[in-house]
Amino acid sequence: MRIIGEQPEHSGAIEALLDVAFGPGRVNKTVYRLRDGVAPIAELCFVALEGDLLQGAIRYWPVTIGSSVPALLLGPVAVAEDRRSEGLGAVLIEHSLARAMELGHHAVLLVGDAPYYCRFGFRHELVRTLSLPGPVDINRFLGLDLAPGAFEGAGGLVGRWGG
Ligand SMILES: CC(C)(COP(=O)(O)OP(=O)(O)OC[C@H]1O[C@@H](n2cnc3c(N)ncnc32)[C@H](O)[C@@H]1OP(=O)(O)O)[C@@H](O)C(=O)NCCC(=O)NCCS
Repeated sequence: MRIIGEQPEHSGAIEALLDVAFGPGRVNKTVYRLRDGVAPIAELCFVALEGDLLQGAIRYWPVTIGSSVPALLLGPVAVAEDRRSEGLGAVLIEHSLARAMELGHHAVLLVGDAPYYCRFGFRHELVRTLSLPGPVDINRFLGLDLAPGAFEGAGGLVGRWGG
């Protein structure tokens, strides 16, 4: 299995993977409003390939907290149904978070299943003072500080990068 940076030719297979993993209605979710019209962060988008076959993918978007504090929005991340529980999701998340740290990012947000993401250090407590621009199950709203104190004093609405 190879983990490499996402290339334009992977986009079709990624969309198909995400449709299976989350269903085509995924684009109606609140987090997608934060991605509308904004490019993902290319340096943090990775795919897992076995030969030429796409088996997993992860992407990140830039967002702002309270209009000025930059943060990362992790997701979507998905692994092919027949390749789950082999550690691929963890490899994609850990690899990309390590790269995010190298690039100097401090705060990471996501909306997802806490029982899965807590193993990477994500916690709801860090984002208690933040809100999202639409309905979410608040217990699924999680944060990770890549730098100590990244969320200290942060508050307000999470917004789309560039307004
Ligand atoms: C979430 C996902 C990316 C994990 O990928 P993966 O390669 O299977 O993950 P890993 O191999 O690193 O970890 C697997 C472990 O996480 C657990 N796990 C997977 N999804 C989980 C979830 N949503 N909640 C809690 N635990 C979960 C598995 O049961 C497994 O546990 P085990 O090690 O005790 O067997 C993959 O399951 C996926 O694409 N799911 C579809 C999308 C989805 O449901 N996302 C929900 C999270 S937002």
